[in-house]
Amino acid sequence: MQIFVDTGLVEEIREAAKLGIIDGVTTNPSLIAKSGRSLKDVIEEICSIIDGPISAEVIAIEKEAMLLEAAELSKIHDNIVIKLPLTEDGIAACKVLSAQGVKTNVTLCFSSNQAILAAKAGATYISPFIGRLDDNGHDGMALIEEIRAVYDIYGYQTQVLAASVRHATHIRDCGLVGADVITAPLKAIKLMYKHPLTENGLKAFLSDYAKSAK
Ligand code: G3P
Repeated sequence: MQIFVDTGLVEEIREAAKLGIIDGVTTNPSLIAKSGRSLKDVIEEICSIIDGPISAEVIAIEKEAMLLEAAELSKIHDNIVIKLPLTEDGIAACKVLSAQGVKTNVTLCFSSNQAILAAKAGATYISPFIGRLDDNGHDGMALIEEIRAVYDIYGYQTQVLAASVRHATHIRDCGLVGADVITAPLKAIKLMYKHPLTENGLKAFLSDYAKSAK
């Protein structure tokens, strides 16, 4: 399973990079807005920190305008993945970009039907939002399972990128149901390291050794 960090804050990305287990980065317009900087500046800096797929989202909502933005974003770095919303225009733009060999991440996916459309348009990644489904009384993990099943039936190569991940249990469950990638805030990724038995065990090892050390 690949692990991407979901943030627009470069200081968090620098911290995440030190962990040595981060495969890529996703951003969205809300996350970029939190940084208080321009999209281009933030994405350029992220590309200098992490050598992996970096998702940068278009702001336009019409196909031709999306394609123009995608062309500008793609100039920033070879690792750029163009993030497009799951709308008729977004899927049509995805089809054009896929044919050009541009990597894409279709975002704001909340159903298996939407995921099928993204795969048919040749998307590199589909981003189902599990936390937002859970927040609204639906079952986010069931959607990841459904998409995995339908993609496997038809052999679609689009990677399932579980997004809107809120905690470490989401990450474990995504692993169990076969998500290709999870993208999560750094805080959730750091929770993956934690287990009280690891912490207590290490304390005991060190204290036993200190007592016996000559
Ligand atoms: O980047 C897309 C997604 O991960 C956003 O998550 O927490 O705003 O629902 P969230």
